[in-house]
Amino acid sequence: MKQSPQSPCSQTGAAVDRRTFVKTIAVAGLGLAATGWAATAVNQPVRRRRFAQVGLGSRSEMHQRAVQQTFGAHCEMVGLCDRNPGRLELARQRSLEFGAALPPGYAAEDFDRMLRETRPDVVIVTTVDATHDDYIVRALEAGCDVITEKPMTTTPEKCQRILDATARTGRRCRVAFNYRYSPPRTQVKELLMQGAIGDILSVDFHWMLDTHHGADYFRRWHSRKENSGGLMIHKATHHFDLVNWWLGALPETVWATGKREFYTPATARRLGLQDPHERCHTCPEKARCTFALDMAAAPRLKRLYLDQEHHDGYFRDRCVFRPDIDIEDTMNVMVKYDTGATLSYSLNAFNAWEGYRIVFNGTKGRLEHGEVESTYAAGNEPQRVERARGAISTRLFPLRGPAQEITPRTGVGGHGGGDPVMLADLLLENPPADPCLRASDEHAGAASCLIGAAANRCFVTGEPVRIADLVTGLCKPVGAAMPDRSEPLPMPPACSWTP
Ligand SMILES: NC(=O)c1ccc[n+]([C@@H]2O[C@H](COP(=O)([O-])OP(=O)(O)OC[C@H]3O[C@@H](n4cnc5c(N)ncnc54)[C@H](O)[C@@H]3O)[C@@H](O)[C@H]2O)c1
Repeated sequence: MKQSPQSPCSQTGAAVDRRTFVKTIAVAGLGLAATGWAATAVNQPVRRRRFAQVGLGSRSEMHQRAVQQTFGAHCEMVGLCDRNPGRLELARQRSLEFGAALPPGYAAEDFDRMLRETRPDVVIVTTVDATHDDYIVRALEAGCDVITEKPMTTTPEKCQRILDATARTGRRCRVAFNYRYSPPRTQVKELLMQGAIGDILSVDFHWMLDTHHGADYFRRWHSRKENSGGLMIHKATHHFDLVNWWLGALPETVWATGKREFYTPATARRLGLQDPHERCHTCPEKARCTFALDMAAAPRLKRLYLDQEHHDGYFRDRCVFRPDIDIEDTMNVMVKYDTGATLSYSLNAFNAWEGYRIVFNGTKGRLEHGEVESTYAAGNEPQRVERARGAISTRLFPLRGPAQEITPRTGVGGHGGGDPVMLADLLLENPPADPCLRASDEHAGAASCLIGAAANRCFVTGEPVRIADLVTGLCKPVGAAMPDRSEPLPMPPACSWTP
């Protein structure tokens, strides 16, 4: 587990030989059952690894359940920590529901004491984004490995702290990039690795958030950059990481524009409301506002947040049109990569449906992929359509010739079947080998955050930002080998028309 402290890049930049990968995939078949990995992994005899977790809100439950229930034969939770005593106690009690022993609970100021007293092998960090770096570094310094939720952190300075701490301590920091593990996205990676479209020269990627999930970022702690880094970091870190991993490339230069034009006081007034107000719970206009969130009517939200706000004053239902919001809702980014590939990306947070479209343009053809994650087509409530027929599409267009429809790979479990596979990969001491190398380290975590941080900087200055000017010691993460730009290209079939 321990890396060499002298050489932070010694395990990075390596690549799985492409021939080995193609052979492995050929043996396994492209239908390699992603969820089967989790099942295989569960049967491995290993000693129980000791985990502690800090930050016990909504996202934490998935990790806690995996440690205490799904992989309970291999893992144990030895300590839980949160700054809100109410959520801390709820998480402790969940342990019983998961069939595990009640772990001790610690207040945020007792985090170091928790590490001393409970001696975890691994600390899972699921706090507010801007606080990740502090817990990551303290855990590494205490001799633990770390699993952190995305984004790894929110600023270049905090990325630097983490890169320096991993190099200094030789411990590992894994980032829980669950999007990589979604079966159809893994399938896209395999197609790109096999050279289905040759060398990737450019990428067009557009992510849409709807006015249900998208609006939610504007009511919580996410709505302030000091907490989340804005959507360029909090949300787009998933997307930038996917592209970095799909391409097997490091970003070099970023240019971006961003604005907030939908979630504003002016929009509230144009929608017929008098003004934005402090929060939905006490809003005098909530009956007329279709953006209002009724936490009292949603048992999980009530239990986790409304009933606990007297401890810390955190309101999870603040008005999405408040003037003090400082994150953008409309963002366009261009990235140039070290392979020469370029990315054109957009993120909008007020769309009619939620999901994405991506196109890879290669020397042998074009790969188009997309997913409609939710839509209002069936009525006023957004419908999850993840697994509905046609919601996911992947098409391969050779330079000249008929397009090929690829049947999207499916899985079972959260995020389209990605979560169970990721959890096995994250939590087990010896997870099954992964030809797509989906496990991501602090360099991958930093590479994706830094694109967002560069975009944030560019929003202000209008000037392109070089990633190399933001941190030192960023290495190319270990990656599976991609097609080589020097390989011969097949001459495409002749065109049947004359210009
Ligand atoms: N991978 C994904 O798809 C995904 C989805 C949702 C959230 N997340 C990430 O998970 C993390 C948690 O998000 P969430 O939605 O659960 O938020 P949340 O607000 O529900 O929970 C955050 C918890 O951290 C606690 N906390 C905040 N600051 C703290 C501090 N300094 N010390 C100790 N405890 C502190 C809060 O009291 C709360 O219990 C975030 O980093 C978020 O980006 C990832």
